Amino acid sequence: MRTIADHFFDILENSVNAHASKIIVTISFFQHIFLCRIIDNGSAANLSNVTDPFVTSRKTRRVGLGLPLLKSTVEGTGGHLNLSRLEKDSGTCLEFTVNMAHIDARPFGDIPAVFIDALRSWPEIDFEIFIKNAKKEQKILDTVELKNMLELDIIQDVEVLKYIGEQLKKELYKIGINRQFGVS
Ligand SMILES: Nc1ncnc2c1ncn2[C@@H]1O[C@H](COP(=O)(O)OP(=O)(O)O)[C@@H](O)[C@H]1O
Ligand SMILES: [Mg+2]
Repeated sequence: MRTIADHFFDILENSVNAHASKIIVTISFFQHIFLCRIIDNGSAANLSNVTDPFVTSRKTRRVGLGLPLLKSTVEGTGGHLNLSRLEKDSGTCLEFTVNMAHIDARPFGDIPAVFIDALRSWPEIDFEIFIKNAKKEQKILDTVELKNMLELDIIQDVEVLKYIGEQLKKELYKIGINRQFGVS
């Protein structure tokens, strides 16, 4: 079964394919509504019909299923997906919501593991992750800060990645996001 986490990797990969060097993710989960915003500084998305399964800028595979599948996942729960351009020719913001209390909602899956995969797969990309609740927004990961602190050029050390994964898991759990539905 596809989980929200499975979609996450696809979305991050879209930013990578658009040659982003920085990806900022904001996650919130409040009153059953999971909200995710992903902002990148890659080349701007061509916004016409990107959620049509036949629209892709890929050269290697003819149909792109990432956004159409995500769209049906979120809209199946009454949520929405919105892709917008930040500037004329660079930067994309993707935002989606999922009603996790809806009977058709998919489980969260292992979101921290997806971020760790992303850090490992694209060490040259800087990530910032924020979580938001009703009261405040809090940064829970900033790879630039972490690299400066640890005096590293890239984050590839298994122990460091494991530690980041555990921290992310702890912070997401605090706002009710665990591998299952998170609605307890
Ligand atoms: N973050 C992004 N920046 C720029 N373009 C994007 C971004 N996300 C999606 N797109 C555009 O939308 C298209 C469809 O994306 P997707 O459905 O994931 O299919 P695929 O990645 O297989 O092409 C991409 O080919 C790309 O042109
Ligand atoms: Mg894609």
